[in-house]
Amino acid sequence: EETLVYLLRKPILVVSDSAAVRDLSTRLPVTRTVVQRFVAGETTASAVAAVRSLHDAGLQVTLDHLGENTVTTAQADATVAAYLEVLAALSAAGLARGAEVSVKLSAIGQALPASSGVDGQQYAAVGARKIADAAYGCGARMNLDMEDHTTVDSTLAILRELREAHPDVAVAVQAMLRRSEADLRALTGPGSRVRLVKGAYDEPAEVAYTDRAEVDLAYVRGMKILMAGQGYPMIGSHDPRMIAIAERLAADHGRTPDSWEHQLLYGIRPEEQRRLAAAGRTVRVYLPYGTDWYGYFTRRLAERPANLLFFLRALATR
Ligand code: FDA
Repeated sequence: EETLVYLLRKPILVVSDSAAVRDLSTRLPVTRTVVQRFVAGETTASAVAAVRSLHDAGLQVTLDHLGENTVTTAQADATVAAYLEVLAALSAAGLARGAEVSVKLSAIGQALPASSGVDGQQYAAVGARKIADAAYGCGARMNLDMEDHTTVDSTLAILRELREAHPDVAVAVQAMLRRSEADLRALTGPGSRVRLVKGAYDEPAEVAYTDRAEVDLAYVRGMKILMAGQGYPMIGSHDPRMIAIAERLAADHGRTPDSWEHQLLYGIRPEEQRRLAAAGRTVRVYLPYGTDWYGYFTRRLAERPANLLFFLRALATR
C-alpha cells in the first residue's frame, strides 16, 4: 500500500484540479454518499448534532466550515458569517466550552486576487479576528489550518497578530516542509498550541521532503521539538507509528493528558479515536461540514488508495 500511495498521490491531486472532473464528480449522487463518511453534513444544525454525538463519546472537536481559495469578498464574508453562526449555535447548545474552530485563511480572503482591489492578507486578518473574538467570547478556541507552502509566511503573520489578543490561537505546521523545523522552534513558548501534521499538499522538492520516509522522520523531529517545549502539542496523525512515538515522548517529558492531545479526522480510524479516549487521552476530531467539500475530499482520496477503492466500489455496486 505504501507504494500505491506513492504512485497515486500526485495523479489524484493533479486530476482533481481539473474543472471538468470536479463538475462531474460533484454531480454524481454516489459521491455524496461516500462524502458523508468524511463530512458531517451541510448545515450548521448537522454540525452541531455531530459535535454532540462526538462529545457524548468523550471526544473533543475542531469544526471546519468547508471552503478554500475564495476569490470574492462576498464568499469570504459568508464564510466568516458561517463561523459566527456555528459558534453561536454551539454556545446555545451548551457545547462551546472546549470546542475549537479550524479556519483556512484562503476561505476568508487570503487568496483574493490582486484584481479584486483588496489586500487579501489584510482582509483575511480582519475576518479571522472576528472569528477569534466570537470563539473566545463563548469559551471556545480557534486554530489556523495550514495550506500550500506559498501561504505559510502570511498565515504565521496573521497568527502573531491574533495571538496579541488571544494567545491561545493555534496553528497547523506541516512536517513535510523543509522550513517547518525552524517554524516549530519559534512556536514552543508557554501555552503555544501547535498542530503537527505531515502535510496534504502537492509541494515541489525545493521546499518539501517528497519521500514518505523522510516526511515521517521530519514528523518525529517535529514531535520531539513540541513535546520538549513549553507549549501544547497537538499530534494530528492517523499513523499508528506516529501515535505510538507521541505516547512515548509525552511519557518521557512527564506530560499529563491535559498538556497535549491527539487529533484525527472525522471518519478516519474512528475506533482508534475511541480507544485513545478510553485510555484517558485527550482526543480532538477534525469535523468538516458544509457544501464545499470537494477539495477536502480529494485530499483524503490522495492520501490513501483504500479511500479511493471504497469510492470506486460504491460506484460499481450501484
Ligand atoms: P498517513 O496518511 O501518512 O498514513 C500512515 C498510516 O496511517 C497508514 O499507513 C495507515 O497505517 C494509517 N492510516 C492512515 N489513514 C488511515 C485510514 N483511513 N484507515 C486506517 N489506517 C489509516 N494537512 C495540512 O496540510 N494542513 C492542515 O491544516 C491539516 N490539518 C489536519 C488536521 C488533522 C486533525 C489531521 C489528522 C490531519 C490534518 N492534515 C492537514 C492532513 C495531514 O497533513 C495528512 O495529510 C493526513 O493526516 C495523512 O497523514 P497521516 O499522518 O494521518 O498518515
